[in-house]
Amino acid sequence: MPKKYYSTLLLTILSPVVCAKYLPPTIANKGMVVSEQKIASQVGVDILKAGGNAIDAAVATGYALAVVDPCCGNIGGGGFMLIHLKSGKNIGLNFRETAPKKIKSSLFFSAGKKTKASTLGYLSVGVPGTVMGLNSALKKYGTLSLKQVMQPAILLAKNGFILSTNNAQFFNHEKKLFSSTKNTQKIFFPDNQKWHAGDRFIQKDLAKTLSMISLKGARYFYQGPIAQAIVTASEKAGGVLSLQDFHHYHIRWVTPIHCEYRKHTIVTMPLPSSGTTVCQILSILNTFPFPKNGFHSSTVTHINTAAMQLAFHDRNQYLGDPRFTPSATRALLSSQHIKKQQEEIRHSIIHIHLNPQTTTSPKEKLETTHYSTYDKEGNAVSVTYTLNGFFGSKKIAGNTGFFLNNELDDFALKKDLKNQFHLKQGDANLIAPNKQPLSSMSPTLVFNHHQLIMILGAAGGPTIITQIVQTIENVLDFDMNIQAAINSPHYHRQDSPATTFYEPQTFSLDTLKALKLMKNHLEKYLWGKYPTWGQQAAILIDPSNHLIFGANDARRPDGAAIGLSKKCLKPTNNHIQFQ
Ligand code: DON
Repeated sequence: MPKKYYSTLLLTILSPVVCAKYLPPTIANKGMVVSEQKIASQVGVDILKAGGNAIDAAVATGYALAVVDPCCGNIGGGGFMLIHLKSGKNIGLNFRETAPKKIKSSLFFSAGKKTKASTLGYLSVGVPGTVMGLNSALKKYGTLSLKQVMQPAILLAKNGFILSTNNAQFFNHEKKLFSSTKNTQKIFFPDNQKWHAGDRFIQKDLAKTLSMISLKGARYFYQGPIAQAIVTASEKAGGVLSLQDFHHYHIRWVTPIHCEYRKHTIVTMPLPSSGTTVCQILSILNTFPFPKNGFHSSTVTHINTAAMQLAFHDRNQYLGDPRFTPSATRALLSSQHIKKQQEEIRHSIIHIHLNPQTTTSPKEKLETTHYSTYDKEGNAVSVTYTLNGFFGSKKIAGNTGFFLNNELDDFALKKDLKNQFHLKQGDANLIAPNKQPLSSMSPTLVFNHHQLIMILGAAGGPTIITQIVQTIENVLDFDMNIQAAINSPHYHRQDSPATTFYEPQTFSLDTLKALKLMKNHLEKYLWGKYPTWGQQAAILIDPSNHLIFGANDARRPDGAAIGLSKKCLKPTNNHIQFQ
């Protein structure tokens, strides 16, 4: 495992443990913002209060996370946004990073061996999409000015914000690396002192960059001094980014894809997002009825992991940027293909009767970032964006004040050569100039008879896909409230390694035994090492009374679901029965 990723995950182990499986969700009736930083959620809610809609709130929250969540929130990365308008229309926005024109696979190898260049330093950087993405969403569907929605982020950067234990630990963990270059040292360790919870963290360079973007728009980033600073720093360090790469960058408005699960409609992002894989897993599962008391039972788990494995196998082989490889979405979601995969699973089920037992609470873990917003009119936004690794490439260009991504590691640098998430991918996702790497990020919406009931998404590399599937099941199959659904311990299966990884206390001993009898290979902890993983920020709407339930993942104790209501609403632990 690359050292960078090891250290990323190590941090998560150092983080405090949260056991909050049955905390009630936040409840409100005029709007909701959920993100992994309370301060950013509050920024979003303040925008709603000021009369903004869910899109305004999403843009403000996105910029605020770029300040208060420097590991993961960003303006130097990219992602996907799924918008639901009160009119009923759903729209996708692809603001994923794009590979530079001069990129080639050989740059990442030395004497036939993969170097660290795909995860560390300027060769790993794709042209960032966040600024153009957020600004374009605001322009098309927002109601407030760029200045207005960016102002909170600018002030948080300029005046600073109070560090949580987690953020202080993350910075300290990178002390050696951040102290080794002048511009990161100036921001993170100006006095060579370690950080403590309660310290104020100020980012003057970032405040200036944000302030200029708020005045001049995305042009300041793509056609002006920011592009120039990044290209200069990249060239100096042997990178291949050019000004043309920035001039040619553009976001894409896309049509979401959809599928059915338990009489609900799942709306999710098309390629190069992994909505296809979310839909493939759910479509395979759709003809296997799960009993209400089947949560984490051996049969349900066996079926789930088999569906995950089959869908990941196809994902790794056939999916990539659709502008380079014709989209396989239609073929993979065709009833013929799904039926074939359902048959394969049916043959592998052995019914084993053991004593049932209950499962208990999860542990906490940190990484990339997903957030969700909802307003009183019924507009909704689901955003997942990322620098890829923790603090991305760990590079800040000149005085720009923000980290650049290391998204190019999401490509297959060579066919079947695994990336930092152990994904072995094929020709469809081979690295190429101007191409976007296949992503696991899959912002998703769930509808019941055309009514929006869930806004969700996750962070955590390929586990994003399996977290989303399990949360949908937890609500629709196992009647959990949205908070319990995302806090519940989860498991993950991708194609390779041929192992199902699970969080502690996910399964009883009996269940583990039964799963093993059905020839499942299981291992505690993700990739055998990391006790918990992922992050979700979800909203559930009860169509019967329009109550809004927000849930921040207990694995991210710095986050919050903050609701907007005329008066305080009492927390409730009730689940909602959908027809
Ligand atoms: O787009 C992807 O699939 C990855 N770059 C996501 C990375 C991620 O979620 C990191 N956090 N665990």
